[in-house]
Amino acid sequence: MSTTTAVIDLDLPGPVISRHVYGHFAEHLGRCIYGGFWVGEDSPVPNVRGIRTDVVEALRAIAVPNLRWPGGCFADDYHWRDGIGPRAERPRMVNSHWGDVVEDNAFGTHEFMDLCELLGADPYVSANVGSGTVQEMSEWVEYLTRADDSPMAALRQSNGRDEPWRVPFWGIGNEAWGCGGNLRAEQFASLARQYATYARNQGGNALYRVAAGASDDDYHWTETLMRSFDDLARDPAAPAGPFQALSIHYYTMSGPWSDKGAATDFTVDEWYTTMARADFMNELLTRHSTVMDRYDPHRKVGLVVDEWGTWWNVEPGTNPGFLYQQNTLRDALVASLHFDAFHRHAERVVMANIAQTVNVLQAMILTDPESGALVLTPTYHVFEMNAGHQDANALAVHLRDVPGIEAAGRELALVSASASVKEDTALVSLSNLDADAARTIVLDLRGRGVVGHEARVLTAADVRAHNTPEVPDAVVPTRHEGVRAHARGLEVDLPAHSYVTVRLALRPAGAPRVG
Ligand code: AHR
Repeated sequence: MSTTTAVIDLDLPGPVISRHVYGHFAEHLGRCIYGGFWVGEDSPVPNVRGIRTDVVEALRAIAVPNLRWPGGCFADDYHWRDGIGPRAERPRMVNSHWGDVVEDNAFGTHEFMDLCELLGADPYVSANVGSGTVQEMSEWVEYLTRADDSPMAALRQSNGRDEPWRVPFWGIGNEAWGCGGNLRAEQFASLARQYATYARNQGGNALYRVAAGASDDDYHWTETLMRSFDDLARDPAAPAGPFQALSIHYYTMSGPWSDKGAATDFTVDEWYTTMARADFMNELLTRHSTVMDRYDPHRKVGLVVDEWGTWWNVEPGTNPGFLYQQNTLRDALVASLHFDAFHRHAERVVMANIAQTVNVLQAMILTDPESGALVLTPTYHVFEMNAGHQDANALAVHLRDVPGIEAAGRELALVSASASVKEDTALVSLSNLDADAARTIVLDLRGRGVVGHEARVLTAADVRAHNTPEVPDAVVPTRHEGVRAHARGLEVDLPAHSYVTVRLALRPAGAPRVG
């Protein structure tokens, strides 16, 4: 087998990789909100106004750009007025989707907006279409974003918040084909237009409205929503309306929905099945984008992957409705494959939200319910290692001589890569999906001089390695020494089952060559 090569033209910047593809999702589900973010003001766990300090600090370190809330399926059962006013007086409800537990609404609109402010993240509010009303949704927008003394602004002020908040992202429903109403695409397309119309821009707050989109490869859903737009083709300068984006949801698992596979106890075959299914995100984005291109040649409508990640069987002994799972090196590589796909499709993919941030599905952070201890997962480290891609220009990466394997009925390339450039720094992300073999890759760097480099690697001896309160650093990034000068640029060692990032210092554009 000849050496794998990645050809990168450093002087041909492509579209901007929106920082919002590094977005997050927090639902009222299991221990994500309660115990994860919110412990209440009287908790022995250090907190700011009830919100865990350690969780906020860890998330600030990975520059969380936006946070989607309150669901998920929960969003279409959620009535926002239940979550405002004095906490002791808030009505209770049953969280029928997730564990059938009683929700006391302690964490509501003000708490969420406080969390976003602490994180420095933009709020992405997912509004109830399934069981709510147009008026209810419209009033929520007014409550959040209107200044003056309108009825909803006055209500907000009476609850202690004078100034309106800035809310850039607004979700119109969630999984309307399923838990969000079991609707047909045609039915939902009409509802999306109606709800989007009444999600009004108040004052200077311009909403970017995201209509609930397809599951997986349901291209009919995307096509139906695209057909429902007002004319997109004629005037490139005219904004998309009445909504501005549509979403897709896609989860990665190694088995069927009835037995998704275990988070930590998996075989090498399951490893490759998982990688092939994660890599399917590329095909999904290509094909959904192709449908969108037909109606929207000027690419005015955004594609938002507002739920993605691994979904395993819950950890033995935990509540099946709480979706609590461990997170191994395998999850880290699922994340790196998704980011490669988002970077490659930067011209259409404007936002993405991993499901979910704390204690649910592919989490960044796990907290121990007894001790309160916080663990950063391997997935967290991929977000941190990739932070330099946020708002950088994508660079095309052409891979040559990549070995492949057949898995899950697909041909899986065993090396994945993406790259970006921001001013005089480039970042190259490299995933070696081979469970057993190390590989060397040559970075054929063209177009700009490279004056320095620095590499990091995330790997472990065992693909099932994961972090726990007892061993929190079983999978953490370390400095990577396996990088050498090469006639074409650099030669990088990729250990088996590893994730490597290489930061390149570039000679300033136009600077004279020395030596
Ligand atoms: O993320 C968990 C659930 O998965 C969400 O509530 C729902 O939208 C999806 O089916």
